Formats: sequence, structure tokens, C-alpha cells
Amino acid sequence: KRVAILISGGGSNMVSLVDSMTKDHPARPCLVLSNDAQAGGLKKAADRGIPTAVVDHRPFKGDRSAFEAELLKPLQEAQPDIVCLAGFMRVLTADFVSRFQGRMLNIHPSLLPKYKGLNTHARAIQAGDSEHGCSVHEVTAALDDGPILGQARVPIQADDTPESLAARVLAWEHKLYPEVLRRFAEGNRSPVLLP
Ligand code: GRF
Repeated sequence: KRVAILISGGGSNMVSLVDSMTKDHPARPCLVLSNDAQAGGLKKAADRGIPTAVVDHRPFKGDRSAFEAELLKPLQEAQPDIVCLAGFMRVLTADFVSRFQGRMLNIHPSLLPKYKGLNTHARAIQAGDSEHGCSVHEVTAALDDGPILGQARVPIQADDTPESLAARVLAWEHKLYPEVLRRFAEGNRSPVLLP
């Protein structure tokens, strides 16, 4: 299976996914694609010998479909079987998502369906929750929605700040996403529940 990974920043989830795709794994990375030429993940991907591409979203201003028409080009070139959004910070239209329906995954730093959208760690602390975590889900037209393929639960500590909680959740993202991708690539849809 060929896997394309979309990033917007440091790409730590991309690195975890790429490094998990060893010889015995049913999938191989075929492209790392970013909407930001400054994304630190691009060098990490290149250092691992993975083809990279950049489609900057800014020249398109609010014209989402024009941006997505460009974004599709390197994806059509790479012919992925699976597309993983990993720290990709652009909302995708229903039309774009429909082209990858059933084979596009995303990781979100909350225990979905709680805390869709941004600033999830601060919101969980603010709400006085005792636990938080991350979810991998199939991407559908609705934001941070779609069937849950895996979750990792993380306790919130009394002295946690959004930053300390985010760091602890991120470490679990790096464990969860590779395990979900392996099962997904093998056609196994049973959810991964960690720890
Ligand atoms: C992190 O906030 C992570 O929780 C979310 O995307 C952001 C950047 O991740 N999934 P990455 O280091 O670029 O993978």
C-alpha cells in the first residue's frame, strides 16, 4: 500500500508513521506534502528519502477549491492508496475528501467526539476533565468527524498546562497513529485503544 502524508509543520507524526513502515509493514510512504514551504517536516522527509511537495495555500486566499485543485496534482502523481493527515492544518472541502473517501485518516488531539477543532488541551483543562487524549479517525466531510479508528487516553494532572498536556498527548499520538495505519493497511478496522 502506498501512503501519502500531509503536514503543515514539524511533522513529528509523519516521522513516527514513516519510521513505523519497515520492511515487514504492508505500507510504504510515497509522498510527504505540505501547504507550507517552511514546514520542518519537509527536511525530515527528504532526509528519509521520501519525495516531497509543497502547495502553498496563501496565494489562493479564500479560494479553497483552487488551492485543492493544485494540492491534488502531486497526490495524483504519487497515486497513494491511503492518505494520512498528520498535523495538517487546513480544512478540506467535501469534494476533496470525497476523492479519498474511506482511505483518508486524520489524527486529532482529543478524545473525539469531544473537543473538535482547535485548542483542545486548554479546553479539556478548562472543563476540569480528568482525562484527555488523541483520536485517529476516517476523514469525512464534517470536521474532525468520521469513524474512530483508534484512541489513546491520557490523564490530566493537577499542575498541567496546555503545553505540558499537549506534550504528553503528542507522545501518545506517535504510538497510536502507526498502530492504526498498520491495521488499516491490513484491512483491519477494529479500533486501537491505548494504553
Ligand atoms: C500537534 O498539535 C498534534 O497534536 C496535531 O498536530 C500538531 C503538530 O503535529 N496532530 P506534528 O508534530 O506536525 O505531527
